[in-house]
Amino acid sequence: MKQVGFSIVILGAGKATRFKSERPKLLHALAGRLIGEYVLRTATAAGAQRIYLIIGHKAEEMRKAFTRPGVEFIEQKEQLGTGHALIVARPELECCPSDVVVVLVGDAPLLKPETVTALVATHKKQRAACTILTMRVENPTGYGRIVRGTGKRVRAIVEEKVASAAQKKIREVNTGILCFSRRLLLAHLAELSQANAQKEFLLTDLVAIFNRHRLNVTAFEAPADEAQGINDRAQLAEVAKVLYLRRACALMAEGVTFTDPEAVYIDPDVVIGPDTEVGVGVSLRGNTRLGSGCHLEPYSTITDSVLGDGVTVRQSCVITNAEIAARAAIGPFAHLRMGSTLGADVRIGNFVEVKHSTIGRGTKAQHLTYLGDATVGERTNIGAGTITCNYDGAQKIPTTIEDEVFIGSGNMLVAPVRIGRGSYTAAGSTITKDVEPESLAIARTPQVNKPGWAGERKKNQTHNSKR
Ligand code: UD1
Ligand code: CA
Repeated sequence: MKQVGFSIVILGAGKATRFKSERPKLLHALAGRLIGEYVLRTATAAGAQRIYLIIGHKAEEMRKAFTRPGVEFIEQKEQLGTGHALIVARPELECCPSDVVVVLVGDAPLLKPETVTALVATHKKQRAACTILTMRVENPTGYGRIVRGTGKRVRAIVEEKVASAAQKKIREVNTGILCFSRRLLLAHLAELSQANAQKEFLLTDLVAIFNRHRLNVTAFEAPADEAQGINDRAQLAEVAKVLYLRRACALMAEGVTFTDPEAVYIDPDVVIGPDTEVGVGVSLRGNTRLGSGCHLEPYSTITDSVLGDGVTVRQSCVITNAEIAARAAIGPFAHLRMGSTLGADVRIGNFVEVKHSTIGRGTKAQHLTYLGDATVGERTNIGAGTITCNYDGAQKIPTTIEDEVFIGSGNMLVAPVRIGRGSYTAAGSTITKDVEPESLAIARTPQVNKPGWAGERKKNQTHNSKR
């Protein structure tokens, strides 16, 4: 049987001049992924038989970031235009198994896989030589304009630089995504030249070339919010907005409440349980997973962390690589990091930092505290202003605080140290030795009161000033 599938060529070799960056554009972060990652995923999800990624500028970095099964790299050492990218890909295209080749631009990450398959289906149905994915935009500046002939036919794509005043008014533009008959593409690729105002091999010139050979070139209109390209940082921000809103809308459909779905920043792989409420300015990054019925007050950033059901995160917390069990309450202004594990019903209050520590069920550290490399038991209370002195200038040293301990306010716990089960430490203590279970440790200078001392001082001061 004749092959009917399609393959995809992704253009990603360009230098991204308008982006003004040392790094290739496809390696910039966008709503939790690299820009290039989106189009690669779209290509895979659309079911392409082969995926060729054209690389050039900083090719090694691109290979490192995008190497994965099913992606073949083609190096375009000199970037002489989007048409040149395909000229360079000729050997691969010669032995490609598909009838149809779809060219995607690497900098259009909003494209959905179903639009690619719909484009291919239209292309086949119309028996076209080339089908252009177009879109209608308010402001067509920078895009190639679609010049139509009679019926559905497209006569040419005219790039911004060469467009006449009348052509510049055309609001139907090229998304940069084109679908070709592989055979006809290979037959006419050699007719491209640099003899144009851009002095580049323009892929879009193939439309006029195909027309000269009386080949059928048609267009397929993309949904409005899918084809925006990212040429500069302003467009990067616009596209990020769209992606974040898409994510929030998908989560609302799964039962998550947002105070303002346009003011949350949730990465693609984040999972959130139903009946969780998320305030404004919350960022949920990486592989974060939230249970159901959680409350996230405004302006926290939670990265690669797992929160159980019914957890409350008050305003402005930074939580990175932490695990928090059910019903715990964190913040406001708390900082949890580096593999900290918090049990159920734990309370971590304002200006408390927890680093690489395990905190047992029902334990509280409510105010102004640092717990680093500590193992804290259950139902323990850590007094305000307590610090685990876990660092001797060379290495990190552990502290152990057992169950039902009461650490008084303002304690310095100098590691290594162990506070036994059920013990108390007096406020203001500097604890340097282990404390037996069920005991009281006091480690502070006894107070000395000097009656009348203040009066004496004042007298001396007046005497001195008269001299
Ligand atoms: C391109 C289209 C334009 C369309 C727009 C949509 C051409 C000539 N123009 O313009 O009609 O409206 O996209 O966003 O195709 N690249 C290479 N090798 C090169 C040059 C570019 O791989 O030699 C890659 C770039 O890395 C980029 C893509 O091709 O991912 C598009 O190039 P870019 O310069 O951004 O083209 P536009 O000016 O946006
Ligand atoms: Ca572009």
